[in-house]
Amino acid sequence: MNKFIKKAQKILKENKRSGYTLPTNNKLYPAQWNWDSAFIALGYSYFNLDFAIDEINTLLRGQWKDGMVPHILFHDKNTNYYPNYTAWNCGNKISSSGITQPPVMASILKKILDKDELNKKQFIKIKKIVKKLKKYHEWFIKYRDPDKTGLVSILHPWESGYDNSPLWDSSLNKIKTEKNLKYKRGDIKVINPEFRPLDIDYDRYVTIKNNLKKNNYNPKKIYKSSMFNVIDVGFNSLFLKANKDLLILLKKFNLNFLIIKKYIKISENKILKLYDKKKDIFFCLDLKNKKKIKIPSITNYFFLFADLNNNLINKKIIKNLKKYIKNQKFLFSSINPNHRTFDERRYWRGPVWINCNWIIYQGLKNKDKSFSKIVKKKTIKLIEKQGFHEYYSCKNGKAMGANNFSWSAALYLDLIEGDN
Ligand code: DGY
Repeated sequence: MNKFIKKAQKILKENKRSGYTLPTNNKLYPAQWNWDSAFIALGYSYFNLDFAIDEINTLLRGQWKDGMVPHILFHDKNTNYYPNYTAWNCGNKISSSGITQPPVMASILKKILDKDELNKKQFIKIKKIVKKLKKYHEWFIKYRDPDKTGLVSILHPWESGYDNSPLWDSSLNKIKTEKNLKYKRGDIKVINPEFRPLDIDYDRYVTIKNNLKKNNYNPKKIYKSSMFNVIDVGFNSLFLKANKDLLILLKKFNLNFLIIKKYIKISENKILKLYDKKKDIFFCLDLKNKKKIKIPSITNYFFLFADLNNNLINKKIIKNLKKYIKNQKFLFSSINPNHRTFDERRYWRGPVWINCNWIIYQGLKNKDKSFSKIVKKKTIKLIEKQGFHEYYSCKNGKAMGANNFSWSAALYLDLIEGDN
């Protein structure tokens, strides 16, 4: 076994708690995160399928009655992180945050089932999981796209997963932060503040969160009243792909798939409304302020992951992606280094993230094999040279953020061991 595989497995095992896994072993994120858990489950599936199933099961134990799966589950009373369980003050069986995160779990589960045989016990568990994922996806359709446009909204930057991306700057600039906000950030005690979001960002995050809380996180109410309501092309691409994967799972387990099938059809058409034909780029929509968001973010290229049968647009987007990485030694910068908002070291405003590379790689595999191989090779090399970190500089590869980062370890295992 190569020493990096051993190390990746060790990281996951050391970050593992009872039934779930921390994103990292330090004090930065002392809870279970939604999309982290999905990537982590994929990593486990290479050496312990039961760990993978447990990880998914635990996340779904925190599902709300209406179907929402929270972005964070607080399994213990640790308050190092802000906002902690008291600041959110909600949850169903497990204390949680009141918002969600990119729903990549169905895609991950489909990937696991494509390669792993299930025993009877595991089959029964997975069927229950698929039912819960169906409820989760139907929650998105019902509450995040009440007019059935085919595109879902996010109501907080944290829901995107790329919290302080410049994508959200113009929308956040319009928000009046609450007066007398009293809270203490935990993150900047652990990580160099130059790598983390700014205080002004946090003031806005907390203001939006408090507003959602005031409305008791009621999904109908907050869709209309949230201070932030955005259609993100990255998020919608992930959701579209997850719906396609869920559809296959629903059929496999003999479950009703009509709502999902119908929604896929609408989404496939509507996502193209986010395409600028003149510039051959995808953009996001700020629904609250009725504005297009045109920021060169790697997440706009998640469109490739959605696997649309549109060769023309796929080709143009790939061509543009090749331009995006021109002069980039280390792929992919989260924001184009030529853009005025680019910040080499600050979290989602420039650094390279392994999950983004992995998503783009999946999208490229069946569209541009040789390019996909380059992405894979460069991602593996970056990790092997710099370690399993949270993020890296696109300029010199330097590792930043937390060390022993679970999803970097988990996705490394898939890149190396998967049937790629
Ligand atoms: C953080 O705290 O940085 C997380 O990304 C929020 O989910």
